[in-house]
Amino acid sequence: MKKKNNKLRSQDWFGSNDKMGFVHRSWLRNQGYPDDYFRGKPVIGICNTWSELTPCNGHLRDIAEVVKRGILEAGGVPFEFPVMSLGETIMRPTTMLFRNLASMDVEESIRANPLDGIVLLTGCDKTTPSLIMGAASVGLPTLVVPGGPMLNGKFRGTELGSGSFNWKIKEKIETNEFSDADLQEAEICAARSAGHCNTMGTASTMATMAEMLGLTLPGASEIPAVDSRKKLMAQLSGRRIVDMVKENLSMDKVLTRTAFENAIVTNAAIGGSTNFIIHLQAIAGRMEVPLELADFDKLGSQVPLLVNLMPSGKYLMEDYFYAGGLGVVVNELGDLLQDNLTINGQSIKQNYPQATCYDSDVIRTREQPLHPAAGIAVLSGNLCENGAVIKPSAATEALMKHRGKAVVFESMEDYHARIDDPDLEIDKDSVMVLKGVGPKGYPGMPEVGNLDLPKKLILEGVTDMVRISDGRMSGTAYGTVILHVSPESSIGGNLALVCNGDEISLDVENRNLALHVTDEELEARRAQWQPPEPLATRGYVKIYLDHVEQAHKGADLDVLVGKSGSNVDRDLH
Ligand code: FES
Ligand code: MG
Repeated sequence: MKKKNNKLRSQDWFGSNDKMGFVHRSWLRNQGYPDDYFRGKPVIGICNTWSELTPCNGHLRDIAEVVKRGILEAGGVPFEFPVMSLGETIMRPTTMLFRNLASMDVEESIRANPLDGIVLLTGCDKTTPSLIMGAASVGLPTLVVPGGPMLNGKFRGTELGSGSFNWKIKEKIETNEFSDADLQEAEICAARSAGHCNTMGTASTMATMAEMLGLTLPGASEIPAVDSRKKLMAQLSGRRIVDMVKENLSMDKVLTRTAFENAIVTNAAIGGSTNFIIHLQAIAGRMEVPLELADFDKLGSQVPLLVNLMPSGKYLMEDYFYAGGLGVVVNELGDLLQDNLTINGQSIKQNYPQATCYDSDVIRTREQPLHPAAGIAVLSGNLCENGAVIKPSAATEALMKHRGKAVVFESMEDYHARIDDPDLEIDKDSVMVLKGVGPKGYPGMPEVGNLDLPKKLILEGVTDMVRISDGRMSGTAYGTVILHVSPESSIGGNLALVCNGDEISLDVENRNLALHVTDEELEARRAQWQPPEPLATRGYVKIYLDHVEQAHKGADLDVLVGKSGSNVDRDLH
C-alpha cells in the first residue's frame, strides 16, 4: 500500500525548532529518550486497560512491554498510556454504565496527544468495545491486541467455564450439592490463570469481533493469555502498527459495512454473546456505517453454529485454540463471508491459508453443525415496539413457542425480595417479567436478564423458563431469555404496563413477542403510568441519563455518535 501523506501527525508537536517544539520534546526527554525519537519516527500510543481492579486485564503491562519491543524494532517510538478500565465482576452498578465514559477517555487521550498510530490492549468484556469506539471516533491507524482467555478451569477432574459455572451455583447450593468449603475451593479453580473468561462469553466474543472487523493480526483472538504465542502476537503487532502508519491504513479503510456484516455472520457461527449486538452497533455508529437491529437477524440467524463452546456448547477457549481457532471457522464459512480488508493489508478470507481443524467436535463443519441456524433472533410485537433479542442457541427448544401468564417484578430489588417466597404464585409455564433494568432504568442496562429461577421450582427440577426484560445478560449465560426490550420500561415502553397474570406469547419462529392485552386497556394503563424519579442529578450519571440512546441503537450517548477525527488545531500556548 502507498503512503498517502508524508507528514506525520506527531510532527505537529515535535517537528519545529522553536519554543513549542522545545516544550513538547524537552519534558518527555526527562525519561532519557534520545533526540532522534522526535525527528520523524512514527509515534505509537499503546492504550492500556491494565488495572488491578480488572483482573482479566491484569497481565497487560507485560504485554505492553512486548508490543514496545515490536514498535522499536520497526523504527517507531512507543508511548504507553492508561485509560479507564472496566472490570466486569466488580464494578457497580454495571460496567455498561461506563462503556461510553471509557470510550470518551480513549478518544480524547488519542486526539490530545502527538500520536500517529494506536495499539489497543483489551480483554475483559467492555474494555474491547469502549477502546474501539473511542479510537474509531478519531480514526488513526489502529490495531487491537486482545489480552486472551484464561486457561480452562479445572475442579476435581471436571472443567469449569468461567461465568457459565456461576449460573449453576444457586442450583448447587439449593440442592445441597455444594458446601461452603466446596464453593471456596472452586473459586480459585475456576480462575486458573491470567486472562479473561474462558468461555465464549462476551470477552471472547469481543476479541473475535475485533479480529473479524479486521483489527487484529490473524489468529490473535483465541490465544490464551499465558501462552507464549500471545507475546509473539503482541511483538508482531508492535511491528505491524509502525508499517500501518507508513501506509496510512486508517480505520475507515478497515471498518467498512462489509466488515460489520462478516462479524455478524461469524458471531452466529461461534455462538457469540448477545452483548455483541449492542457493542457492534455502537462501533458502527462511531464509524457512521448504517447498521440496524434487523441486520443481525437477516445476516446471522440462518448461519449454523460451528463452535462447540460454553455457554452454547461444551468446550472452552483453550480447546478452541488447540482445535485451530477462528481461521478454521472463517475457512469453513467460506462463501458466507465477503472480502474485507484487515490490518495486515490482506482480506480476511486470505488470512488463514494454513488453518487446520485438529478437533472436529470442538469446531464443526457446516454439514455437521451443532445447530443449523444459530444467530440472534430479533423479535417484534407490542411488547417490544423497537425490538428485542433472543439467542436461540442458548435457549430451550421446547420454550421457543410458548404462552404463559406474567409474573412481574417491578425492579431488581422486588425480584430479590420475592423470588424465593414459598407463596409466590409461579409455575414452570409462567413468564418472568423484569422491569427497570434498561439503559436509563438501572441505570446502565446490567446483565441481569437471565434471572435465577425460584428455589421451589429448582427443587422440582425445572431448569429453564421464559424470562423477559429490558436488560442484558452475561455472554456466559444461557436460557430462554428475551433481552434488550426497547423502548425500556423506565421511559414508558409497553413493558412498563405489563401486570401480573397478563398473557404473554413468544413465537421465535415467527419472531413475535406479544402481550395479550387490548389496546384500550393498554391506553388506560398508560394514562395511569408515572415515570420513575431521576436516578441522578449530577455528575457523569446525569450526563449519561440525559444522552443515552435505547438498546436497539447500541446504547451510546447521542453526542458521541460519529467522529471528531484526529485534527486539533490549537496548541497549548
Ligand atoms: Fe472479565 Fe469475564 S469477567 S471477561
Ligand atoms: Mg459480562
